[in-house]
Amino acid sequence: MKRTILLSPGPATTTDSVKQALVVPDICPREREFSTILRGICKDLVSIVKGDDAYTAVLFSGSGTAVMDSVINSVVPDNKKIAILVNGAYGERFVQIAQSYGILYEPVLFEWGTTIDTSRVEAVLKNDPAISCIAMVHHETTTGILNPLDEIGLLADKYGCTFIVDAISSFAGIPIDIQQCRADFLLSSSNKCIQGMAGLSFIICRKEALDLLKHQRKRSYYLDLYNQYTYFEKTGQMQFTPPVQVAYALRQAILEYGAEGSSNRYARYTENWRLLRSGLQGMGFQLLLPEGLESHILLTVLEPEDVKFDFDRMHDYLYERGFTVYPGKIRQRSFRLSILGDLYPEDIAAFLDALRAYLAGNGIFLTPYSG
Ligand SMILES: Cc1ncc(COP(=O)(O)O)c(C=O)c1O
Repeated sequence: MKRTILLSPGPATTTDSVKQALVVPDICPREREFSTILRGICKDLVSIVKGDDAYTAVLFSGSGTAVMDSVINSVVPDNKKIAILVNGAYGERFVQIAQSYGILYEPVLFEWGTTIDTSRVEAVLKNDPAISCIAMVHHETTTGILNPLDEIGLLADKYGCTFIVDAISSFAGIPIDIQQCRADFLLSSSNKCIQGMAGLSFIICRKEALDLLKHQRKRSYYLDLYNQYTYFEKTGQMQFTPPVQVAYALRQAILEYGAEGSSNRYARYTENWRLLRSGLQGMGFQLLLPEGLESHILLTVLEPEDVKFDFDRMHDYLYERGFTVYPGKIRQRSFRLSILGDLYPEDIAAFLDALRAYLAGNGIFLTPYSG
């Protein structure tokens, strides 16, 4: 099968074996055999973040935004508020979801691409006893910044708040210990660092926090977290038709994650990120973030001033050669490159060669970064 190098931040480049796992005999998802697959997946997802029996995973059909929606509509009580930490588009998406349900929220806003200042977060929590939940994005894919998971978890604990973490683009790519970071609800999807296919998303929940949702008013029929959980517990089935083949691919992706190991995956991602970072700087590209703030998964590259540079032309040139690059999401003209997926140093080297050829072929000469 033709191998393409996706430098977009998920859906990712997958292994042939994950692609092949999609092709299975037709099966009704209400059969016990399929329940066994789903139960195994849930158990493995919990153990990837070092959860024990106090945690469970709840699966939904849909992309990452489905579980962002589910957790917000299901967790925040009517008479309480959620503090939403925003330093990028996905933090802002939590705000938009809260707004769409008429849920009370307190946005704690930071310039996109800057660090979340924990003392400002603490001041907000201290001054507003109505706040009972905090939502934060771990890896803000808008810029590539990594947000302070354990520190905000400590604050959530100190102020008795439920802690919601969007780990959609970090789960399985960056080691996470759910007990250490004290997340009550941690979200991700099948098509990011776990390296499966798009179509399933999931919430890893602390069961005690989940049980508290029992008497909460339902705001959504399709995306209610507690209903989805109890239905699955009772029947071993998802309430509504799951993407059956995507589940088989996810199971294969989890097996491959287990074979690679958590620290090896992080080391491979880090190596690819480092090669990409230094290669781009060697060519003269400016990066948005300093190295120390980056997730090791995604780089925001500022577009060069040179009038001959054109993102769309660069995209098309690279796409024809098997590389997909992704537009930026910030105010400045920029593009993003992510190394999440089944990628290796030789892929990064080949990409850098193609990018160099694009620049040279278009007479674009940048001043190499001097450190
Ligand atoms: C951190 C983060 N949260 C949420 C999402 C939304 O996921 P989806 O586009 O799959 O709905 C993304 C997608 O890239 C993401 O990176």
